[in-house]
Amino acid sequence: MDQERLLRELYEFLRIPSVSTLPAHNNDCRAAAEWVAAELRRLGCRDVEFLGSDTHPVVSGKGPDVPGAPTLLIYGHYDVQPPDPLNEWTRPPFEPAVSDGKLYARGSADDKGQVFCLLKAIAASPRPPVNFRFLIEGEEEYGSKVLFDLLKREPQRVRADVALVADMSYVAPGWPAVYTTLRGLCYAEITVRTSKTDLHSGEYGGAAPNAHEELARLLTRLKGADGKINIPGFYAPVKRPAKSELAAWKKLPFNEKDFLNKRVQGKGLVGLKKYSVLERLWALPTFEIHGILGGFTGEGAKTVIPAEATAKVSMRLVPNQKLANVERQLAAAVKRFAPKHVTASVRFLHGADPAQIKIDHPAFQLLSQAFKEVTGRATVPARAGGSIPVVPALASAGAPVILTGIGLPDDRLHAPNEKLDLKQLWDGIEVFQRFYALLGGAGRM
Ligand code: BES
Ligand code: MN
Ligand code: MN
Repeated sequence: MDQERLLRELYEFLRIPSVSTLPAHNNDCRAAAEWVAAELRRLGCRDVEFLGSDTHPVVSGKGPDVPGAPTLLIYGHYDVQPPDPLNEWTRPPFEPAVSDGKLYARGSADDKGQVFCLLKAIAASPRPPVNFRFLIEGEEEYGSKVLFDLLKREPQRVRADVALVADMSYVAPGWPAVYTTLRGLCYAEITVRTSKTDLHSGEYGGAAPNAHEELARLLTRLKGADGKINIPGFYAPVKRPAKSELAAWKKLPFNEKDFLNKRVQGKGLVGLKKYSVLERLWALPTFEIHGILGGFTGEGAKTVIPAEATAKVSMRLVPNQKLANVERQLAAAVKRFAPKHVTASVRFLHGADPAQIKIDHPAFQLLSQAFKEVTGRATVPARAGGSIPVVPALASAGAPVILTGIGLPDDRLHAPNEKLDLKQLWDGIEVFQRFYALLGGAGRM
């Protein structure tokens, strides 16, 4: 492998600040799509198209036809999360650099570095006897609306023998994984209004309601200090994993103390104490507050009673929970918990159903073998706490969806100083190269 050339090419991709959630980066998202399209053309793809949007298109393409060979659908995303807080990055997020064997940049692990592996693994010779199909989207980090709409119009685009998604990580260094569930997501803004305008806190304080205070109370009613979410009906569909699955998790190289000290780097863990940390992360739903807006947050002091406050929140959903039901449940709970003197409303920004994947198709065995040959260890089944909105739709045509990844759990996705270990990158290219060869060798499945 010409590692120097490959790194240079990956740098180009990582330099594009394709932040899908910020409209100011629309042109950058388009540029990242162009980068992907150029790569697909270089691989000899035909029908390379931009679909569904001018600014955040799904890049679609078809590899050279290999009659009788299996069809593999490759999914990934070229968009990234906002890089803030910028002052916590050791180097600027869109100026990739290697230090100590690690490649630092926004998107290095999530997901540009992994898309890069999937694509570069194809360029090897001999060419794998596989009919490649690509759907590389640019709105994964913002709910995948463009791709959802596309698949609603043209569901045949997911037709394949196998689908491959590399947007996760190993469960621990040296431990590659395939994932059997992804959590879903329900992202919302909760707004409370308490008066027509802001009020002088001396003239009115003591008698007039305060929007921030009401919002704080509302949020703590929705989720208590014990970690329990008090949205009526919320937990009803949630099923505990089977005893055998919980037992298997105990054998994974996961240590709650290390998780606290090395990964969270905080003073203590929270959540439902009755359940193990892995069960809280993988099999239970969440309610998180992402940010609170309103009132006075400028420099200095201003004595004002805010009339309006908004919280950005999201819930992670687990198998059997349905996004549509959770939206209704949250809206009803907010209405019910808000006192009469408060106008409370909920606006839903985006969301996704949870995904559950059976891993008994022979293709999972082939990926496991590829990992074993390259890294020395076969894949272990695990669950993922994160979400990939479009996975249930990818699975809808019946092809097995292989959820895997080549990063490590400490890659700091969405956070400052996101990185990808170079060893993971080079191994990743080899793993997928080997997987494509094995899949092609197996013929149609
Ligand atoms: N690659 C992640 C999903 C992921 C992360 C799965 C870690 C498993 C482990 C993906 O890019 C992501 O961040 N998705 C968003 C989706 C949301 C914005 C709809 C997420 O999970 O927050
Ligand atoms: Mn991702
Ligand atoms: Mn992400």
